[in-house]
Amino acid sequence: SDDFYEKLYRPHIHFSPSFGFVNDPCGLVYDGKQYHLYYQFRPMHNLTNEVDWGHAVSPDMYQWEDRGHAIVNSDEKGMAFTGSVVVDGQNTSALFPPGKAPLPANQMKGGLVALYTRDDRSIRKNHKSTIHAAWSGDGGNHYEDFAHNPVLDLNDPDTRDPQVFWHAPSQKWVLALASAYTHEILFYGSRNLIKWEHLSTFAPAGYQGVEFECPNLVELEIEGEKTKKWVLFISLNPGSPQGGSSIQYFVGSFDGKKFVADNSVMDFTDFAKDSYALQIFNDAPDGVKCGVSWFGNWQYCFFQPPKNWSGAMTLPRQFHLRRNEIGLPMLIQRPVGIDALVAKTLTSSQFVMEYERKVEKTVALPTNAAIDVRLEAQVTHSVEPNGWLDIEFSNKDGEVLSLGYQRQTKSFWIDRSGLKGFSNHTFSTHFAASLPRDSKSFQAQIILDGCTLEVYLNDGAGVGTCLVFPKAALDTLTLRSSQLGLDVKKFEVNALKTTVKE
Ligand code: FRU
Repeated sequence: SDDFYEKLYRPHIHFSPSFGFVNDPCGLVYDGKQYHLYYQFRPMHNLTNEVDWGHAVSPDMYQWEDRGHAIVNSDEKGMAFTGSVVVDGQNTSALFPPGKAPLPANQMKGGLVALYTRDDRSIRKNHKSTIHAAWSGDGGNHYEDFAHNPVLDLNDPDTRDPQVFWHAPSQKWVLALASAYTHEILFYGSRNLIKWEHLSTFAPAGYQGVEFECPNLVELEIEGEKTKKWVLFISLNPGSPQGGSSIQYFVGSFDGKKFVADNSVMDFTDFAKDSYALQIFNDAPDGVKCGVSWFGNWQYCFFQPPKNWSGAMTLPRQFHLRRNEIGLPMLIQRPVGIDALVAKTLTSSQFVMEYERKVEKTVALPTNAAIDVRLEAQVTHSVEPNGWLDIEFSNKDGEVLSLGYQRQTKSFWIDRSGLKGFSNHTFSTHFAASLPRDSKSFQAQIILDGCTLEVYLNDGAGVGTCLVFPKAALDTLTLRSSQLGLDVKKFEVNALKTTVKE
């Protein structure tokens, strides 16, 4: 029944909507007391003209309380597409009436300001997307539109998804905007969030795809160094190499005016295909750069089960850079604070898997919790070309979700082809990450939670974000190797505490 699948696919630690359809995260911001997650919300669960901003708040990015609509579509203005929220503590926008303290805890003069896309294709033939400003007098639950919107009108149907942040060195607000079909990211600057001036345009030589969307520019630390680098994330859809939607990024510098990529190197954030429209939180405590992306892909999101809701956010991830084997700073993504969620350790051991024998370990999994698997192994004996380690989630109905390490190709695979809950011509089933050339050891963290699977390899150097739709709960985990000698330094399986309201 619908109810069965609704339960089976509902994540326990990932945000998902109680009904309707979600895509991009919007307006991610920490207001000094709590995190706000706004999200693209289609209450009717299809490609209608009703696209709003939903809203959830959390003390820790795991316990989400859904507060419903924050910005709504209308017959005069059109749909409320993706955008950003900033803490305008000094009331630079002058949108907040004097004496009104919308964020009393922070003793600010101002409060939360949203800059977002109004897309009027639902109500006009020659449609435009324009950038609107709105302010919240109630701490972020509802937004009032600025009286003289739009604040930016390029007379174009497809410039959208403003990301706004405060650039301290040049004492101004910076806005990054995607010009979807010309494959450009446009930068604007402002002292007051209302009057915007063009600063520069970045037209990368990277992957072009069909549309550029949801730019995010953020300064990240390089591990083990005092240096920081600016990273520009650009979502592209359709036309990603995996099919449909994915996120590419460039590493470079930003002087308050212009983003300059260090070189022509670009990479994708994910080796699977269900992570899109990444956004970074504005003002997270201690300057931490964390964010979430939409757990989905435009290729099949409207067809996938369950029936009454669709879409989720990825786990909150922290981002930084680490130099790879040839010295290039590459993206590292790690889930935030998972250790605090461990409710029960189901197994924790170290052992040797000998080359000749096929050693199996089996763990029974609870089906009402997110499962966290941590594995660290060193190859002690292999004879090319064979040799693999398989980590398998399965059930009595013969369904198998297989992940694993293949020695010769230095790859780590995800294979969702053995799950029977959903199939679609574009719902690709096999993904593989490539591991460093000389590595004889590898490390993986795997989190399975309802219809979501996340894999973090080598401490966040490779990430696979992958929807999974079994027909019945996956209640068994098996570890098995073939023609590979392994020193398993860590094999830990945890059941995690449920954090979202059930
Ligand atoms: C990206 C996107 C954005 C747009 C929004 C509409 O997934 O297409 O460009 O603002 O979704 O929901």
